[in-house]
Amino acid sequence: MSPGLNDLIFAFNALEQFRKRAISPHHERFIFPFLCGSYFAYRKIDVKRIVAIAHAVSKDNPSYLDVGCGYGDFLEKIRQYLPNAEGMEKSADIFFKLKKYKPDYIKIGDAYNGIEKRYDVIFVGWMEPGVDYRDKIAEKTDVIVTTLDQGLSLAAEFEGHDFKKVASWLTPSWEDINTEITNKYYSSMTEGLRRSLHELRGAHNLWYIYSKPNYVESVRKGLKSHISQENKGNNNGYEFEKVLDESGYKYLENFNIGNKNHLLWDIVFDT
Ligand SMILES: C[S@@+](CC[C@H](N)C(=O)[O-])C[C@H]1O[C@@H](n2cnc3c(N)ncnc32)[C@H](O)[C@@H]1O
Repeated sequence: MSPGLNDLIFAFNALEQFRKRAISPHHERFIFPFLCGSYFAYRKIDVKRIVAIAHAVSKDNPSYLDVGCGYGDFLEKIRQYLPNAEGMEKSADIFFKLKKYKPDYIKIGDAYNGIEKRYDVIFVGWMEPGVDYRDKIAEKTDVIVTTLDQGLSLAAEFEGHDFKKVASWLTPSWEDINTEITNKYYSSMTEGLRRSLHELRGAHNLWYIYSKPNYVESVRKGLKSHISQENKGNNNGYEFEKVLDESGYKYLENFNIGNKNHLLWDIVFDT
């Protein structure tokens, strides 16, 4: 389902009002994710991991498609490393009726009608519940990267399509950060209450890497070799990552979810 035009116009007006009192230019991407950011709160390391996966599939010039890319915030970051990366977005209205620039690398199309060509990697970012075109994606690639909002978009799981999960990691969703910054900077709640709510914070977004059996080993190897570089430091991120750090969502931050312990952004390889 595409966002309704009236909802978008309403959100644009709210964004304009918000900008008049925003404390940081980086807050809007977490408060208005569709207009200014994305529904998952990524770091540059997420972008580089996906680029490493694409190079593990095709060394020189991997092809990449982001399905349901919206305005293409995440796609833009990927294109800094994979300049031929493309996006597919169902709604023409989000560009043309709202007079927003549509880059040529975003094609208007509905994944339910099929994907035109094959890609080395297809990325499916956050999807609304009920949207499920897994068959169409599985036909056109051997490697799929999905982000899955826990409990919401289960249509991002591909085991049933002859794909094997190679690895996964956990990050916050925009809502996790939204709650933190809204409570801290844009509400009048007491510091004591804010701190007690902070203790209840969650991290809801899972990244899954899937591969057809013939690519499992090369994707695993490529990602492992990339991670050894990541662990050596030098992970200068995007300016907006400061907001994640300040909100308690640091790289490798320890998290208890239910009775399980997780480290944010820590890669878990499936056996
Ligand atoms: C929740 S938004 C996520 C946008 C972006 N991936 C992100 O994470 O911010 C889902 C997007 O997928 C698009 N979409 C929904 N169904 C689609 C389909 N069948 N084919 C292509 N795009 C679709 C919607 O129009 C919307 O822009």
